[in-house]
Amino acid sequence: MSSQIFSHVELAPSSWQQSALQTDCKLHQLAPYIGKLKPNIARHLLSNFTNRGDTILDCFAGSGTIPLEAALLGRKVLAFDSNPYAINLTRAKLEAPRTLILANERLKQTLDASKRRMRYDESQIPEWVRKFFHPETLQNALRFCDECIERSDNFLLACLLSVLHHQRPGFLSYPSSHLVPYLRDRKYSREEFPDMYTERDLEPRLSAKITRTYRDLEPANRDNVITIEQISVEKLKLDREVDAIVTSPPYMNALDYIRDNRLRMWFLDRNTQNYSPEPTDKANRFDDMTAAFADNAFKFLRSGGRCILVVGETVSRKRMTSHPAERLYQRLLKQHPDLRLEHVIQDNIPDVRRSRKSGAATKRELILVLQKAG
Ligand SMILES: C[S@@+](CC[C@H](N)C(=O)[O-])C[C@H]1O[C@@H](n2cnc3c(N)ncnc32)[C@H](O)[C@@H]1O
Repeated sequence: MSSQIFSHVELAPSSWQQSALQTDCKLHQLAPYIGKLKPNIARHLLSNFTNRGDTILDCFAGSGTIPLEAALLGRKVLAFDSNPYAINLTRAKLEAPRTLILANERLKQTLDASKRRMRYDESQIPEWVRKFFHPETLQNALRFCDECIERSDNFLLACLLSVLHHQRPGFLSYPSSHLVPYLRDRKYSREEFPDMYTERDLEPRLSAKITRTYRDLEPANRDNVITIEQISVEKLKLDREVDAIVTSPPYMNALDYIRDNRLRMWFLDRNTQNYSPEPTDKANRFDDMTAAFADNAFKFLRSGGRCILVVGETVSRKRMTSHPAERLYQRLLKQHPDLRLEHVIQDNIPDVRRSRKSGAATKRELILVLQKAG
């Protein structure tokens, strides 16, 4: 790539493009999340640019890829995100039960308790939610969800959200897509596929999900977690210095984490009404977010500490003349003239990793490795 701002851009190692599904910690696949970073990239960045025992900040934690890899690599973790589903997933991955036996025990207790809960008044459930499920499946899923929330059991809650919608039999909804919820009732009509519209039992589906997750699993040490909290970077108040920041800020213009997670988010918070686009849908809001990041996160990086930013790019670049990483870097430099650019690494994202194959999707990310003057 040619850049007016970055004089030297390195190409990402070819290993980043290869699938590491067999070697990645299984918790990374706990549930889908748009704009997820590949675990092997997080691992590479953390191993190469931070040290064991370092305190790492990820203030855009998303599904918790960086926090989980950091904890597995013996780093201490501070994780934040504005989205409640992101925080549920991050906690689920870092606070998973130690063993399959413990996870199954918890599942049994929680399922039993959920069955004793009051049933929902169907007329209180929005129609757009009801049309995804058989009424009995929806009742049971909601009561299980509430029981998990009451018990602060993020792991079981994430397992439920993970099997919430798909067209496969191991999921709870009528035929629909997995990542972003859309019904597939045209392709799989009730008349032609009546089996896809019957009640779905929670227990075998959750149990299978848990068994898959615990295959060869070595959970992270919980002692490595300092905090995981739902808070936006604009409101973040840190009480300590950190040794490194490793994070991937929201893609400017590209992804809408609220709208695309709407069904899972409605389960997490029934009062969620507003699925309007996130503040990052405009370039100037991206700049505001960068300013908040500089004030509330970068300022707390210790002298000599590294800040590693994985910055995505949108395909549709209306009125945009530069990569968002350039924009972010220049604005950060204005607020912190003492930072030094160590590396710019370019990673081309293959179609399989994009949330949408066409239209507004991220096709190339730049990784900035910055160092605060020591
Ligand atoms: C590119 S994603 C992070 C993906 C993550 N690295 C992963 O592997 O799942 C960016 C995240 O920023 C969050 N976000 C958007 N605006 C935010 C804000 N103002 N403050 C904090 N988090 C925000 C989104 O909810 C999203 O989870």
